[in-house]
Amino acid sequence: MNIHTEFHRFLRREDKENLLGQRGIVVWMCGLSGSGKSTIANAAERVLHQQGRFTTILDGDNLRSGLNANLGFSDEDRLENIRRISEIAKIFASQGIITFVSAITPKGELRDLARGLLGEDLFEVYVKASYEACEQRDVKGLYAKAARGEIANFTGKSSAFEPPNDSDITLDTESMTIEEAVIELLDAICARITPYHAG
Ligand code: ADX
Repeated sequence: MNIHTEFHRFLRREDKENLLGQRGIVVWMCGLSGSGKSTIANAAERVLHQQGRFTTILDGDNLRSGLNANLGFSDEDRLENIRRISEIAKIFASQGIITFVSAITPKGELRDLARGLLGEDLFEVYVKASYEACEQRDVKGLYAKAARGEIANFTGKSSAFEPPNDSDITLDTESMTIEEAVIELLDAICARITPYHAG
């Protein structure tokens, strides 16, 4: 290979984290389409922003219109989707940025890939809602289309969703409000984003 990765001349992670007064983390929201991943990520980001934290959101839907526009929903494409998102999230976290990922990440294999690339930086959040609940909400109209057989490989129907059983936290959006979910999430990551010297 003629690629020589070079890191030693770069500023260190802690230089960036000290500048920002926070520690980088990847808060990875997985769950069915319509479970509330993006809604919770957006609300949590707003609270953190108001508190003076530097944040960003990598949203599966949005990335699929740009960086990942060449990917579909086969197992292979989802793997590549998650690999790319993980690699970007890794760069952001290494710059001290509080990075939310919102992507279905339907299978253990995909979450393992993210875990392998992100290691300790990964904080996995399972945004839990049943297929039936998401189908009732159907914010994007996709569940109705899937019911009519108009979407191939639809997660939870014609493509499997394996519920995670080892997430760092589970937020059940059928039994809690978005506000409650956001409070629980922020509480859970609080210690992980606070700089070491701030105690
Ligand atoms: S993932 O499985 O690879 O993690 P990702 O989160 O990027 O998925 O994209 C999911 C979004 O794509 C959904 O929220 C939905 O709006 C849209 N979408 C389009 N087709 C499908 C499909 N077949 N299965 C699931 N989501 C789909």
